[in-house]
Amino acid sequence: MPLPDGYSLQPLTLEHAPALAAAYARNREHLAPWDPERPEEFYTPEGQAASLVERLRLEEQGLFSNFTLFAPDGDVVGRANLQNIIRGTMQGGTLGYWVDKDHLRRGLAAAAVEFLEEQALALGLHRLEAGTMVENLPSQRVLLARGFEQYGMAPKLLFLNGAWRDHVLFQKVLHDRPLS
Ligand SMILES: CC(C)(COP(=O)(O)OP(=O)(O)OC[C@H]1O[C@@H](n2cnc3c(N)ncnc32)[C@H](O)[C@@H]1OP(=O)(O)O)[C@@H](O)C(=O)NCCC(=O)NCCS
Repeated sequence: MPLPDGYSLQPLTLEHAPALAAAYARNREHLAPWDPERPEEFYTPEGQAASLVERLRLEEQGLFSNFTLFAPDGDVVGRANLQNIIRGTMQGGTLGYWVDKDHLRRGLAAAAVEFLEEQALALGLHRLEAGTMVENLPSQRVLLARGFEQYGMAPKLLFLNGAWRDHVLFQKVLHDRPLS
């Protein structure tokens, strides 16, 4: 399922900082239930630039692969990332994604997850995982729509929105070839 017409996922660069700051400011309430508490600086171009420098440093180390979602009009309307990439005998990564409140329910997250699966395969990864808060039914639907399977439940996994939150754990095995 490709991205809808005119939308694109582009590799994260430092130039995305101002548009990302604006997108996070527009989506503050939409993202608040699922995110850590953010300092005010996070919503400024400077704060975003500092955050992106750190992300890009992790990318250089092969630990992350970061993408920005653009709408047809050029606005930033989301992000999609491979996070915490682990090599060795695991060859795995963790998904992260969000979509702008005014662009929901048009297949963007599902297409972004499919895109991340392709990126992961190109990186030689074997398995992807994702954890969603128990209450995050929309995100669980996205993963199920992409063929992820629930494999567990992690009590108090992440400190989000002011408390340690229970998470449903999903995974997808991308291929079954031996480790080369
Ligand atoms: C979760 C989120 C990414 C979904 O984005 P989206 O672009 O609207 O999702 P899609 O349009 O690709 O939907 C994919 C599937 O999920 C379902 N879905 C999406 N949102 C839903 C909702 N609110 N209620 C029920 N089902 C929903 C769709 O119906 C579709 O399923 P289908 O193929 O069986 O019809 C978006 O709501 C979001 O950004 N939420 C806040 C941040 C967040 O939760 N990030 C993930 C943290 S784990």
